[in-house]
Amino acid sequence: MEIRRAVADDASAICEMEERYFSDSWDKKDVFSYICSEGGMCFVALENGRVIAYVIGRMIAPEGEIYRVAVDEKYRQRGIGYRLLSFMLKTERGRGLETVFLEVRRNNAAAIALYRAHGFKDAGIRKNYYQNPTDDALIMLYGNCQY
Ligand SMILES: CC(C)(COP(=O)(O)OP(=O)(O)OC[C@H]1O[C@@H](n2cnc3c(N)ncnc32)[C@H](O)[C@@H]1OP(=O)(O)O)[C@@H](O)C(=O)NCCC(=O)NCCS
Repeated sequence: MEIRRAVADDASAICEMEERYFSDSWDKKDVFSYICSEGGMCFVALENGRVIAYVIGRMIAPEGEIYRVAVDEKYRQRGIGYRLLSFMLKTERGRGLETVFLEVRRNNAAAIALYRAHGFKDAGIRKNYYQNPTDDALIMLYGNCQY
């Protein structure tokens, strides 16, 4: 498996996964804008040249935010999400990243476990933040920032 920074040509494969895994899927324009922006924290994992996982975030050093992470369902629970996030955090620390903020559906046990495995801590709840279906958002923080 290869992990690298995402490039514009990865946008279509990422969007296909967006449609499969998110009720509020991002379109190619959204994905493209993060991949191509200076502060974009966008990485993909590939198996035989095919995108099987991605993470999308944005940073204005020293702070970053993660918006999306997904692993193809055939490849889950094999540590790929963990390795992808590790790669992103390590690479972006080299550009000055120190703290990371994110929101995640409170009932998304897999994602919460992934973030906790990286040392993200619970920092608050936003009631009924998500729709389709309605759910609370858990706010998580990595690093020492306080909100
Ligand atoms: C969340 C997601 C990215 C995890 O990817 P993954 O490659 O399966 O995760 P990993 O195998 O690297 O596991 C990382 C940690 O999460 C835990 N985990 C993974 N799936 C889990 C599940 N279904 N239930 C409980 N814990 C789970 C693992 O045990 C591991 O914890 P550990 O290090 O303490 O053992 C994947 O489930 C996914 O794509 N979900 C759909 C999209 C999504 O909901 N994204 C998050 C919101 S943007």
